[in-house]
Amino acid sequence: MVILLNNPPALINKARANYDVLSWSTLDNATIARWLTSVWDIQRSKEEKKLGVQQVMPMELINRLIIMYSKAGDVVVDPFMGSGSTLASTYALIRKGVGFEIYDDLINIAIKRLKELEEESRGFAPLTLPDRLTLEMDMVRQKVDHEPIIIKDDARNMDKYLERESVDIALTAPPRFNPAPSGGLRGLDPRDLAVITNYENYMGELGKIIAKLWTILRKGGFMIMTVEDAMVGPIIYPLHVDLITMMKGMNFNLRNIIIWDKRKEYDPKTITGIVHEYIIVMEKS
Ligand SMILES: C[S@@+](CC[C@H](N)C(=O)[O-])C[C@H]1O[C@@H](n2cnc3c(N)ncnc32)[C@H](O)[C@@H]1O
Repeated sequence: MVILLNNPPALINKARANYDVLSWSTLDNATIARWLTSVWDIQRSKEEKKLGVQQVMPMELINRLIIMYSKAGDVVVDPFMGSGSTLASTYALIRKGVGFEIYDDLINIAIKRLKELEEESRGFAPLTLPDRLTLEMDMVRQKVDHEPIIIKDDARNMDKYLERESVDIALTAPPRFNPAPSGGLRGLDPRDLAVITNYENYMGELGKIIAKLWTILRKGGFMIMTVEDAMVGPIIYPLHVDLITMMKGMNFNLRNIIIWDKRKEYDPKTITGIVHEYIIVMEKS
């Protein structure tokens, strides 16, 4: 079941469950070596492409990050949930996912995805696991609260829902900065960060949301973001650099930068422009 909230309940706060299932320490050496490489060539699956949602993140990529930076039972927040890829991954990997989104159509897609996962007998196996781990996961799944929560609200209100220092990691792909949207901005909700075409204003609003994430994250908790720089003619908006600089100023330490290589999604004959994203991992100090 998915819990859907429109209004703040009692603040969500949860003691850390700390189960070492499907976390870094349970991986074999070959997998660790592969995941520690700084370029990840991960494609969206056919099912993910079929969702028809722009900027849908591959679950395979999210699974890796969740396993690397959290433990079973941890609280994982996605302030820009979209079609719910983060929540699908947290559900499968037995973490408690909390997602914010403003559009009903995206919330409905996320609910559908989560229901489909729930209907499969064991959630689903996100990785090929040794029997020992599968068995352990099944036992932990019974014990640990990992029911996803979807909150239909502006991410700027997250502190009304989540207690200070109650979250273990935040993982998200923020709305893309687009200074010159070709189709115009009609139909977009004014709360959507994608309506902001001035870079300083965009960074300012994103900064407000990151400042709130800082307060709800526990000390040592991770803030993971997948971002794409923007380029319009000769002007480059180096979002990943500016975000890292801004977050260092907010008492986050930089822990990892991974390049997500998306070249295989494009036709090699016509490929041009930006075809990679940065995965930035910051830790609350
Ligand atoms: C890049 S998409 C996220 C895609 C998602 N990772 C996925 O796999 O589907 C960013 C999302 O942020 C949402 N969004 C934009 N401004 C928001 C705000 N102020 N509060 C909550 N959500 C917002 C947009 O509607 C969009 O779905």
